[in-house]
Amino acid sequence: MNRPTHIPGKPFIGKTKDILADPILFSAKLALENLPLVSVKLPGRTLYVTADADIVAEILVKEADKFSRGANYKRLALVGGNGLITSEGEFWKRQRRLAQPGFHKERINGFLKTFIQLAEDMDARWDKMKGQNIVMSDEMSRFTLKAVGITLFSNDIEAEHPDFPQYIRALLRFINLRHYQMIRFPIHWPTPSNKRFRKQLDYLNSIIYNQIDRRESSGKEYHDLLDMFLSQIDEETGEQMSREHIRNEFFTMVAAGYETSSVALTWTWYMLNQEPKYAAKVYEEMDRVIGSGPVLPEHLPQLVYTKMFVQETMRVYPPVFAIPRSIKDDMELGGFQLKGKQPILITLYGLNRNPAYWNNPEEFNPENFSEEAKQKRHKHAYLPFGSGQRMCIGSEFAMYEIMALLAVLARKYRPKPRPGYVPKMLASIATNVTEGMPMILETE
Ligand code: HEM
Repeated sequence: MNRPTHIPGKPFIGKTKDILADPILFSAKLALENLPLVSVKLPGRTLYVTADADIVAEILVKEADKFSRGANYKRLALVGGNGLITSEGEFWKRQRRLAQPGFHKERINGFLKTFIQLAEDMDARWDKMKGQNIVMSDEMSRFTLKAVGITLFSNDIEAEHPDFPQYIRALLRFINLRHYQMIRFPIHWPTPSNKRFRKQLDYLNSIIYNQIDRRESSGKEYHDLLDMFLSQIDEETGEQMSREHIRNEFFTMVAAGYETSSVALTWTWYMLNQEPKYAAKVYEEMDRVIGSGPVLPEHLPQLVYTKMFVQETMRVYPPVFAIPRSIKDDMELGGFQLKGKQPILITLYGLNRNPAYWNNPEEFNPENFSEEAKQKRHKHAYLPFGSGQRMCIGSEFAMYEIMALLAVLARKYRPKPRPGYVPKMLASIATNVTEGMPMILETE
């Protein structure tokens, strides 16, 4: 039986330094140079990395039961607890069943008006900021946090607690840094950074618990995801979901839902500026479909080219750059023999640049997402939302909120990167961008 190409690295630390220097590029390069599967030495473990669509299909779909969520998700549980994104097994299945109706097509259709309204609120805000410097990712997070808060929890969290996003970001940053640290002190040790983490987490919890308690005591029905969680009865125990459990799911939805979409939008604004030839087609489509009147929900599914532009942006700058798993036991994968209980990484960034699936992968071209091109491509070559049973629950939600924002704002505003600024992707829980993408808010 074959073994994957092995990259040994330095004694003790293995290839940790290279990974730390640039986790996105290093893992993608490694996978693409050593297709279909490579193993790399890290302290005390071997990391497998792949950008091969057949192997990806095995990991996420065909052999999904042979993999667990892995250490990255365990670390995320320090903040999110046992929520939909971190949990496994029967508990996860029940949670997914419970949350799924909240994302059904009819419900998403019901959200479109809200997405458009929130985009129009952004228009009113931007109208007063014309010509000014903005940090695009802050602007986009503002919109996406409201979209999640209002549609799923009937609450504009940020309006009540303007520092809420800042705290979420700080907590996720802490988790992210911890993930890459070579030496980690136990979380309960009173180090300065652990103490800060605890304080931030307590503050965030107080906000979320307050939302839950207010809803419970209001006696009103909102028919949203929070109501669904509150009325959930466990089939086995007959008990309701605990407060802590509802808090975990609340946090999970907000954390999983707002920064990913915000990053996708931020890069889309950048590409609209960088690719005027394709951007012109986006504006032309919007003029044709929307005309000079207001944006209506029925316009959004008709913006076919705009969606292709967004999909291509997410290919070049994937909001989630890699999907991690852990191998449960010794196994065969894609004809290779693997040792169990080791981490394995699907590099989406690498998959999106694998020349086996893309012509000129470095070149931006929305035609990569024409019906014809999609039909020809391997079904697992483009997975911004993952695949299989753990596929993103919010994929439709995300695409529609993105489309709504662009439909309202893209024809009117032409944000430009600050002169001299060259953006770079940053590895985080969702990928991020250096300095949050500073831009000047110019108009058409
Ligand atoms: C452009 C935006 C988004 C991207 C790129 C994205 C990407 C992903 C990916 C790749 C996964 C799978 C991770 C894995 O298999 O390990 C995932 C899972 C998940 N996403 Fe998203 N996501 C986005 C938006 C959203 C939104 C808007 C929500 C909710 C409002 C959401 C909620 C979740 C949840 C709860 C999971 C875990 C699902 C499960 O394990 O059952 N995401 N997302």
